[in-house]
Amino acid sequence: MDRIILKNTEDTAALGQRIADGLKPGSIIALVGPLGAGKTTLAQAIARGLGVSERMSSPTFTIVQEYESGRLPLYHFDVYRVSDEDELFEIGFEEYLHSGGVCLIEWADLIDDILPEETVWVRLEYGEHEDERICAIE
Ligand SMILES: Nc1ncnc2c1ncn2[C@@H]1O[C@H](COP(=O)(O)OP(=O)(O)OP(=O)(O)O)[C@@H](O)[C@H]1O
Ligand SMILES: [Mg+2]
Repeated sequence: MDRIILKNTEDTAALGQRIADGLKPGSIIALVGPLGAGKTTLAQAIARGLGVSERMSSPTFTIVQEYESGRLPLYHFDVYRVSDEDELFEIGFEEYLHSGGVCLIEWADLIDDILPEETVWVRLEYGEHEDERICAIE
C-alpha cells in the first residue's frame, strides 16, 4: 500500500495526474474519506489528467456525471445520498462499470459490497496541517 502525504492542493493535483496516467478502459477508482477530505478535488485532478475539458461539478444530486472529452470516457459518481442499491441499478450502475470507461466513485465505501475485486481504493484523510491530506492507495 502506498501512503502519500499531500501538503497542499498542488500535491493533490499532481497525484491526480499520476493516477490518470495509469488509467485504462474499465478502471474503477473508489474515493473514500470524510467530508471535505478532498475526494472531489482529486477527482477533478484525475479528470484534468485524462484531458477532460469540461468543468467538473459535484454529482451529489444526480449520482453520476459523464465526461466524454478526455482520453477515456469518465463517469464521476457520488453515492453519498444513495439510500439503497435499487437506486444505483436504476441509473444503470452495472453498465457503467463494464462500459470500457473510467469510473470514479466518491463515498464508495457505502457500496463496497457491489464493487468488483479490481477496484482501486484511494483513501484520503486529514493531515496535521490545514491543507495537508494523507492518501493511501491499495
Ligand atoms: N491537499 C489538499 N487536497 C485536497 N483538497 C484540499 C487540500 N488542502 C485543502 N483542500 C481543500 O479541502 C476541500 C476539499 O473539498 P472536496 O469537495 O474536494 O472534498 P470531498 O472529500 O469531495 O467532500 P464531500 O464529502 O463533501 O464531497 C477543498 O476546499 C480544497 O480546496
Ligand atoms: Mg465530494
